[in-house]
Amino acid sequence: MKKWIIFLISISVMTLSQSLRAEGYITMGSDAHKFIQKNSVFKSQLQNELEYIDQEGDVALFKVKSDVIPGLEHIMHEEFNRCAGYFYHETLDEAVSFLNKENEHNSLLNFVSYSINQNAKVESAIKAVSSDEVLKTINKLSTFKNRYFQSKTGVASSEWIRDRWTELSRHRQDVQVELFKHNSWVQPSVILTIKGSTTPDEVIVLGGHADSISGWYDRANATAPGADDNASGIASITEVIRVMMQINYKPSKTIKFMAYAAEEVGLRGSREIADLFKRQQINVIGVVQLDMTNFHGSDFDIVLMDDYTNKAQNDFLAKLNDTYLQFNWGHSSCGYACSDHASWTANGYPASMPFEATMNTMNTKIHTANDLIALSGGNALNAAKFSKLGTSFLIEMAK
Ligand code: BES
Ligand code: ZN
Repeated sequence: MKKWIIFLISISVMTLSQSLRAEGYITMGSDAHKFIQKNSVFKSQLQNELEYIDQEGDVALFKVKSDVIPGLEHIMHEEFNRCAGYFYHETLDEAVSFLNKENEHNSLLNFVSYSINQNAKVESAIKAVSSDEVLKTINKLSTFKNRYFQSKTGVASSEWIRDRWTELSRHRQDVQVELFKHNSWVQPSVILTIKGSTTPDEVIVLGGHADSISGWYDRANATAPGADDNASGIASITEVIRVMMQINYKPSKTIKFMAYAAEEVGLRGSREIADLFKRQQINVIGVVQLDMTNFHGSDFDIVLMDDYTNKAQNDFLAKLNDTYLQFNWGHSSCGYACSDHASWTANGYPASMPFEATMNTMNTKIHTANDLIALSGGNALNAAKFSKLGTSFLIEMAK
């Protein structure tokens, strides 16, 4: 009897250990594959574990002897800033269909492992944020009669943003400012790029819309100061640029600041840009949208919008706030694709929208001639908080 029990136990242990060592398939970014190939220590360590089968676009497929590949996690985390960084599949069919789907949009490469460890840089940058500077930009943008996507002043206001961003970054060889022209309307978007020093192919975007709108007819001639919607967001972004240039900050990854045209008429400027980035397979690892940052509608300083956004990245923003800023933050949701973050989400990129109020405490004067700085007490104290959050996000993401 005793013998039988021992026999049964040993059989189950064998079966169990065999199932733990079951053969299967994994897919991983081909950059990681190349890295392993080049590194002799990792190559010899992994050559008995991985058998290369195929590659589609940026994803490589392997046969593996077990679902636990010692050392691979470590490489992914240390070298590529990703969590596990690979996917396990039980069957070849499943792996191949994953490979093909992944090629459509490569979420493997969007596995961002969020960490906070740039304290000295972040703290010196956020100290340099000035609400007076933010205020100046809001006031300047509000002086255009409107910033409508089909008006002369819409064009002139975007050119002013282009000129201001150029002035701030004139001394830097690694910075480029350009107008992004659209075929179906006259107002251009504006893009400032700080090229990453070591991993320029990974891109982080901080954006907001440049246009404003008011009234129902003859909008090209209507008065639409849009101080809150969205001179405030553009001013928060411009202050991030000013501070980064002042401290001569150089990111490892590429940072792009964007002032989108034609948001108020259906997210059209951002949609053209995000669609193009997707078609060009640009690896955008994070997007933050600043649309309305200066009206203090509730007890919250910053409200994270839950819908059309990425939960992991939203949690990261909350953590950044708790680490560096300690602003009072809450949650809300638009209930529809309310701003340009949705254009990035639609293309599979992780996006967030930190906002100035909850939906039921929002600024009700937007889209009227009364969207003026006076509604925010004539100062830019709240919009400056978003500059600080944006700065922390970019520095921790672009390392
Ligand atoms: N800034 C608003 C979005 C917004 C308003 C968010 C109030 C949260 C509270 C944006 O400029 C806007 O007006 N969006 C449009 C939708 C867009 C698809 C035309 C809107 O909300 O009607
Ligand atoms: Zn609006």
